[in-house]
Amino acid sequence: MDQTPPPPHVFIFPLPLQGPIKCMLKLAELLCLAGVHVTFLNTDHNHRRLLRHTAVQTRFSAYPQFRFDTISDGLPDDHPRSGDRFMDLFDSLEAVSKPLMREMLFSYCRSGDARWPVTCVIADGALTFALEVAEDVGIPLIYFDTISPCGLWSYFCIPKMIDAGEMPFKGNDLDAPIQSVPGMEGFLRQRDLPTFCRVRDMNDRVIQLVMKEAQEVKRSRGLILNTFEELEEPVLSHMRFLYPNLYPIGPLHTHLKTRLGAEPTPPLASSNSLWHEDLSCIAWLDAQPLKSVIYVSIGSLAMMTRDQLVEFWHGLVNSGHRFLWVRRPNSIPGGDWEGQIPEELLVATKERGCIVSWAPQEEVLAHPAVGGFLTHSGWNSTLESMIEAVPMLCWPYFVDQQVNSRFVNEVWKLGIDMKDTCDRVRIEKMVKDLMDVRRDEFVQSAERWAKLAKQSVSEGGSSFCNLKCLIEDIKLMV
Ligand code: UDX
Repeated sequence: MDQTPPPPHVFIFPLPLQGPIKCMLKLAELLCLAGVHVTFLNTDHNHRRLLRHTAVQTRFSAYPQFRFDTISDGLPDDHPRSGDRFMDLFDSLEAVSKPLMREMLFSYCRSGDARWPVTCVIADGALTFALEVAEDVGIPLIYFDTISPCGLWSYFCIPKMIDAGEMPFKGNDLDAPIQSVPGMEGFLRQRDLPTFCRVRDMNDRVIQLVMKEAQEVKRSRGLILNTFEELEEPVLSHMRFLYPNLYPIGPLHTHLKTRLGAEPTPPLASSNSLWHEDLSCIAWLDAQPLKSVIYVSIGSLAMMTRDQLVEFWHGLVNSGHRFLWVRRPNSIPGGDWEGQIPEELLVATKERGCIVSWAPQEEVLAHPAVGGFLTHSGWNSTLESMIEAVPMLCWPYFVDQQVNSRFVNEVWKLGIDMKDTCDRVRIEKMVKDLMDVRRDEFVQSAERWAKLAKQSVSEGGSSFCNLKCLIEDIKLMV
């Protein structure tokens, strides 16, 4: 009888949203390249979208040790899963997906099943129920938080802020400084904390969810982060007091590109998007002068009111710059705004703008015509922009984005934080500052960070070594 132990088999469960899925698929590829078997769990809803819009199946069929599996998220297909109904997803995952996940893991571990037994679960940190499930089945679990570590650390310090009397916020001065987030003293203001920190009731569902997350992560085998040591050194060293087993292995997209560049494995084609990518914007960019275009996108979840849309539109047009604008379907509530847009905006857009519903963002940011990025400061977008040395104008919407935009402005010097403002005059000025007046200063910083990021994923670099360590730890669990 063959005595060789089965290969390590990791069961990956991302939060079923664009940013986390994209990020975790990159981790899955890195694990496959290291000989680890991977089962990647998508919700039925997202899996259908992923297969419809990308070459993801072809891409992953090149890895014989990779497979997708699917689970219900319990919501009807036409549920928006964003905006003010975002929390429905969490409730439904806990009520419906949690028992299904338990059943699935038990069946994987039963002898006689054709699949390898699962060695380890890697789940998104926001899936706080996953640890309990893994424990029931007797499998170790490592959490992966795909948001920024600086944002995550601010969540984890909520109990400290409550103890220090800094939360709930006193008064109405959002510029008041916050002192009880170690590593961020001196520059963090109330307005730089996630917007859910602005509630008065500390029993609020989101506050309770993130406090639970902080506890569950502590009980898990470790925490994977999409960052590199050099970028967030002070935050990571404070986190390690409470969470000693950290694996900062990012930026994952750079890490993967470096690995695939070195080995003749599958083609780097698909970007794992849940929306159809409109490639016509690349042809449009090809016709624009060098660094002349500002790219505008608010990611996969953020929304914009009709009034905010009009302010942004005027600001962009009045800046005189060319723009490529992603308007995700349903990201502007109320369908009747289109007929009310002033004629001068439509004319100017025809002359020097391009609007698409979804773009191949990594390719856009790497395009020589792109000189700036008006972003919601999602963590993937921030890293993708930093690596391409594209300065950012930040309009954060929620979760970690408020912290990210403060770090972009104050710590990494990569751009301007326009936080809590949205008027055409300021937008015009900020776009001009970003694209012309202060451009060199931001590009210089971004080039420095991009160089450090690339070093960190190269042989001997911090993220390279941390990934090696993660893989060794997983192999020891067999
Ligand atoms: C969510 C949260 O909003 C964010 O704060 C958190 O950091 C991660 O999860 P999301 O809105 O999806 O993120 O933003 P982001 O993290 O920036 O991820 C968006 C991804 O979609 C990026 O990888 C980006 O390349 C991709 N994208 C976006 C496209 O491919 N095309 C587009 O047109 C827009």
